Amino acid sequence: MKKFKVGLIGCGHISVTHLKGWQKAEACEVTGVFDVNVELARQRAKAFGVGTIYESVEALIAGCDVVDVCTPPQTHSEIASKVIEAGRHLVIEKPLVTDVGDWDRLKRMLSHSPGSITVIHNLKFTHCVQTAKRWVDEGRVGDIISLNRQFLTNPETDRMLVGNTHWSHSLPGGRWFETMPHELYLFHHFVGPLELDHVSALHTPQAPAGAPADEVMVTLKNGRCIGAIQYSANCSLNKRMLYIYGTKGAVTVDLLSDYAFLSTSADQKWKRAVGLSSMDASRALLRAIPDRSGYLLRQARGDNAHANIIRAFDSYVQGKGPAPTSTEEVDYVVRNCDKIGWEIDKQVGTLLAA
Ligand SMILES: NC(=O)c1ccc[n+]([C@@H]2O[C@H](COP(=O)([O-])OP(=O)(O)OC[C@H]3O[C@@H](n4cnc5c(N)ncnc54)[C@H](O)[C@@H]3O)[C@@H](O)[C@H]2O)c1
Repeated sequence: MKKFKVGLIGCGHISVTHLKGWQKAEACEVTGVFDVNVELARQRAKAFGVGTIYESVEALIAGCDVVDVCTPPQTHSEIASKVIEAGRHLVIEKPLVTDVGDWDRLKRMLSHSPGSITVIHNLKFTHCVQTAKRWVDEGRVGDIISLNRQFLTNPETDRMLVGNTHWSHSLPGGRWFETMPHELYLFHHFVGPLELDHVSALHTPQAPAGAPADEVMVTLKNGRCIGAIQYSANCSLNKRMLYIYGTKGAVTVDLLSDYAFLSTSADQKWKRAVGLSSMDASRALLRAIPDRSGYLLRQARGDNAHANIIRAFDSYVQGKGPAPTSTEEVDYVVRNCDKIGWEIDKQVGTLLAA
């Protein structure tokens, strides 16, 4: 079988996960890399047996069928334009762009291009989110009434919050903009589009350089459901949680542990006496052995969310499956990231000026 030639641009942190993911694809093979840091490109090419180190973005595009972009978001729009213009398939890390106008332009270009776009909305492809989605689709929680996403971090554990030079600091909304696509496409995945309702940003005395708005709450809603996103740069608990509440039950999704838990324990007097939390804890303990064995097995096999979305793209280019990210999902994410990011900056600017 003739394979699709993949060229990877940007050989930093996340490129390693991509390169491992491409190794699991059937119809695609990484044949070249490019980075403005030539030494890093050399290292990645050597470690993954990639034959060509290109000298420019243009040369890589000319030599490949698929271009995988793993550079900082500030560079995405320019590189993506060149890839789409050349009619190649574009696989690109989130956040897709830093300005909604750039997405409008890319979307117009895509409508005339033989190439496709896949934005790495990888958390949809985690085991825990897929389990939660199955439970929701089976009606186990009833109708979803609220979604609550917590991203609680701190400068000791978050590489993007260390120091004052990381590229995420100059994004609209700072470091939060880097993760915001995850929150938005997860909500979209479970309940479809929600309208932005409110952004509340706080600048506390301990705010690190990368998150001048170190405490942020965002709410979104439609006629049936409210979604809330909480960002904190001050919490050593280091949590990445998604809570899904429905009319009949709830799912807790711990994204760092890749663990989902379904709770349908209705409140009754005898259950109250035992303690609903204790009952849930016992059920969680019973599930722990098979669940954690599965987790360790997936880790050992390198079966992670990036590998899964890359495999989904691989099936898509072979005509065997749907595109991993729909234009509607991308559009929803980009527009809301834009609004929320700028609103955070506006509020913090006002706080700092006062
Ligand atoms: N989906 C996820 O879970 C996830 C996780 C981490 C990072 N990311 C995303 O991946 C992207 C890269 O993040 P990272 O942490 O790997 O960043 P990084 O800073 O570690 O690496 C970026 C690399 O791009 C190179 N680069 C910069 N401009 C370039 C250009 N114009 N042409 C070629 N190379 C260029 C840099 O030299 C660097 O090696 C970002 O969009 C980030 O948000 C996604």
